[in-house]
Amino acid sequence: MSQSPVSFGWEGPVTVPDFLAAPSQNRRLAVVSLYDYPMARMFDEAGADCLLVGDSLGMVFRGEPDSLGVTLEEMIYHAKAVVRGTRRALVVVDMPFMSYQLSPTQALENAGRILRETGAQAVKLEGGLRVVPMIEAIVNADIPVMGHVGLTPQSVRRLGGFRVQRNATKLLEDAKAVESAGAFSLVLECVPSSQAAEVGQVLKIPTIGIGAGSSCNGQVLVAHDLLGLSPGKKPRFVRQFGALGEAGLEAAGSFLRAVRDGTYPAAAESYQ
Ligand code: KIV
Repeated sequence: MSQSPVSFGWEGPVTVPDFLAAPSQNRRLAVVSLYDYPMARMFDEAGADCLLVGDSLGMVFRGEPDSLGVTLEEMIYHAKAVVRGTRRALVVVDMPFMSYQLSPTQALENAGRILRETGAQAVKLEGGLRVVPMIEAIVNADIPVMGHVGLTPQSVRRLGGFRVQRNATKLLEDAKAVESAGAFSLVLECVPSSQAAEVGQVLKIPTIGIGAGSSCNGQVLVAHDLLGLSPGKKPRFVRQFGALGEAGLEAAGSFLRAVRDGTYPAAAESYQ
C-alpha cells in the first residue's frame, strides 16, 4: 500500500532559514541519515526535511566498529550520490574525523570542498566549546553549520564506548557555545530527555534529537536502522518502522531458488 508524501507545508526545497523558523512555527523536523542515491530518493519523496550524509556510514555501510576511518573523500563521494537523489530536503554532510580538528583554516577549507564538490547545503561537525573557532570560521564564509553535542561518536576512544552522556552542565555549556558560534541547528545525541528539554528551552536554534527524548524540535535516525536493515543489537532509541532486512532475505532466497530450479529467466525476460 503506497502512502502519500508526508509534508508540512514547505513545498519548495527546504532551506536553512526554514530550519531556523521551525521552533517558532511549532514544526517538527524529520531528519534521516543515509548514504546513497536510492535511499535519498526514497526519503526525499516521502517528505523528509533533511537528509544527513552521516559518517555513521563507517559502521552502518562498511561494518566497521566506529566512524574514525571515514575520510573526507569518502564523505564527498557519498554526498554527491545523496544530492543527486534529492529534490526537496536540505542536504547536510558530516565532516569526518580529523577533517576539522587541526585548525579553523583546515575546517574552512574542507567545509568549502564539501559544499563546492557535492552541492550540499550545509556541513555538520561534532563538539562543543572546543570547536567554536572552527564553527566560526566556517560560518563566516557563509557555509551553514549543524552542531552535534552530547555523545559525539568521533570521541569514542576518550569516552570508552557509545554511552549516554549525563553531564548536564557540560551539555548546556557546549550547546550555548555552538549556538553563539553561529550554528543553525544542533544534534543532541544520547542524553537524558530532561537535559535535552532544558537545552531546548535555552536555545533559539532547533534541536534535533537522537536518543534525546521527545522535546527536541526534530528527530534523526539512520535510514538502515529505521527500515530494519541493520543487523544485531540496536540502541534503545532505535524504532524499526519497517522490516526490509527480512523482506530482502526472502527476495534473495526466491532469486536463488529460481536460478537453481531453472524458472528464471522466463521467456518474457529473455530476448527473442
Ligand atoms: O553520522 C550520523 O549518522 C549522525 C547522526 C546519527 C546524527 O551523526
